[in-house]
Amino acid sequence: MILGFIGTGKISSSIIYGIFKSNLKVKKIYISSRNTNIAKKLAKKFRSIIVLKDNQKIIDKSSAIFLGITPSVGSKILPKLKFSKNKKIISLISTLNLEKLKKFTKVKNIVRATPLPPVEIKRGPIIICPPNKFAKTIFKHLGKVLEIRNEKLSYKFWSTASLMATYYEILNTSSKWLIKKGINKKIADTYIAELFLALSQDALNKSSQGYKKLVTDSQTPKGLNMQVLNELKKGKFFTKFTKALENVNKRVSK
Ligand SMILES: NC(=O)c1ccc[n+]([C@@H]2O[C@H](COP(=O)([O-])OP(=O)(O)OC[C@H]3O[C@@H](n4cnc5c(N)ncnc54)[C@H](OP(=O)(O)O)[C@@H]3O)[C@@H](O)[C@H]2O)c1
Repeated sequence: MILGFIGTGKISSSIIYGIFKSNLKVKKIYISSRNTNIAKKLAKKFRSIIVLKDNQKIIDKSSAIFLGITPSVGSKILPKLKFSKNKKIISLISTLNLEKLKKFTKVKNIVRATPLPPVEIKRGPIIICPPNKFAKTIFKHLGKVLEIRNEKLSYKFWSTASLMATYYEILNTSSKWLIKKGINKKIADTYIAELFLALSQDALNKSSQGYKKLVTDSQTPKGLNMQVLNELKKGKFFTKFTKALENVNKRVSK
């Protein structure tokens, strides 16, 4: 398998790190020289990575191409590039739909995928739309693949995936609070990461029973968890939270 990456930014590099930690047999990976620092670092670390300046050369030399560029860059450069009909294309671009991607590349075998940075540690959900055998063959090594046929429905996951920074901010705020109260930083950071890791693992194990039950089960009547939840509800925390999801949804559904 020879892979090519147009755009060597955060998500492309996360996929590449994940690939080298996995059992996937990849002969070569051609990556673009942008971003220069990330490309240099990857080429230094992995011998089978070759950095090329010319996007067209990356396409010509690879059997499957990942598009790891922003929507504006994609709209600008894709129509000028030539993809032979047999190329496999996996687009990671957030807001370019399949219709536009097919128009720009003139390739029918194109699929959209939404991996997240934890693919670097071979974890996390990966949405593939439409279902695609080749994309699944790769991504099943990097996390939990979920295939969605309906493109409009697949956009919904962009909203929930946009909770990443907020999630980390919850960790950051909690840890900072502990530190301010006199806890050693290393202990505070470890405690918070372990707490949320345990809660997430437990939620995953029990997901079939529904999250509402977990919310109930984690509160003692008049207890501390109930106090925090009620205070946040009173402050309309979850109303604002849902509104933010709706607003991202409006943006990505355009
Ligand atoms: N980050 C995520 O969690 C995530 C997850 C799923 C999907 N996505 C999507 O994946 C795409 C990339 O996101 P990202 O977070 O990886 O962004 P990023 O870190 O900014 O990466 C974009 C890359 O494109 C490069 N680039 C710009 N112009 C180029 C050109 N003409 N030819 C080749 N490369 C060029 C940039 O290089 P320079 O730095 O030199 O400009 C940069 O390395 C976006 O559409 C995003 O919505 C991101």
